[in-house]
Amino acid sequence: MYPLRRNRRLRTNEAIRSMVRENIITPNDFLVPLFVVEGKGVKEEIASMPNYYRYSLDLLEKEVKELWNMGLKSVLLFVKVPDNLKNNQGTEALNPDGLMQRAIKTVKNAVPDMLVMTDVALDPYSSFGHDGIVHNGKILNDETNAILSEMSLSHARAGADFVAPSDMMDGRIFEIRSLLEDEGFHNTGIMAYSAKYASAFYGPFRDALDSAPVDVKDIPKDKKAYQMDPANRIEALRETKMDIEEGADIVMVKPGLCYLDIVRDIKNEVEVPVAVYQVSGEYAMIKAAAEKGWLDHDAVMLEQITAIKRSGADIIATYFAKDIVKLIG
Ligand code: PBG
Repeated sequence: MYPLRRNRRLRTNEAIRSMVRENIITPNDFLVPLFVVEGKGVKEEIASMPNYYRYSLDLLEKEVKELWNMGLKSVLLFVKVPDNLKNNQGTEALNPDGLMQRAIKTVKNAVPDMLVMTDVALDPYSSFGHDGIVHNGKILNDETNAILSEMSLSHARAGADFVAPSDMMDGRIFEIRSLLEDEGFHNTGIMAYSAKYASAFYGPFRDALDSAPVDVKDIPKDKKAYQMDPANRIEALRETKMDIEEGADIVMVKPGLCYLDIVRDIKNEVEVPVAVYQVSGEYAMIKAAAEKGWLDHDAVMLEQITAIKRSGADIIATYFAKDIVKLIG
């Protein structure tokens, strides 16, 4: 009780503040998303994600070496697939010599100890821009799971350490885990996008991969029939607990900032590491406001990342990973 307690004593100067700080950001917290394209010598800036790039395999190699030297030890791979290789079943996803499979090998050859996680969903491979097979205006669940499992196996064979299913089909973790076990990939992990919301914050990412749902008659224009309703909270726990029962090693909440209540709910309930994905739209907002001179880029970035960690994130996937590591030294 005041005046016996004066909380400001612990805020007097940086020495005491840093001593009592409850959450510290380190390079170990981060998972770095990387976008990969075909070609040679390609480093293309993504229009709606300033200072973020798509890399061809040769430059990907350079990039992962740089990340490793900065202390960033895990990457999450995404590929941009040429239109002529897309179809409704996303069959290119299973090509053992596809871009993702080559990207996994490229990273592992360049930096053998780098932890490689891969996105598993059909959207970059789908002619309709959906995470699953489209049939009569609906996204098929179990038929999609069969492909996602094969896709995961293909990534495991190429050398992925973890597969990260981001599709939100029911039961996909069970199907993927079962196939990996059957094929002897006992040590390939699964990071499940467990509470993934149907969010408008994915816009810039869909630009980066040209993977947005197409505007064609009888094709769903959004992903609300599989991704979660932003209004729901209890459902996130149900999804997450099911994924853990089905074999997920790590669970994820996505997007980040708007969903930190969900992160805390899950952190309090589960006994596996919790990842948070600060998504493309969150990145774009900070970049845009900073470009206009309306916000202090570094301060806002650090505050948001700190908030994500404080909410309970053990792992943070963010496009700011390099910027943050440079900032915190
Ligand atoms: C694909 C996928 C998406 C993101 C990660 N994996 C897009 C989507 O579901 O439409 C979004 C990442 C971001 O916005 O940064 N299933």
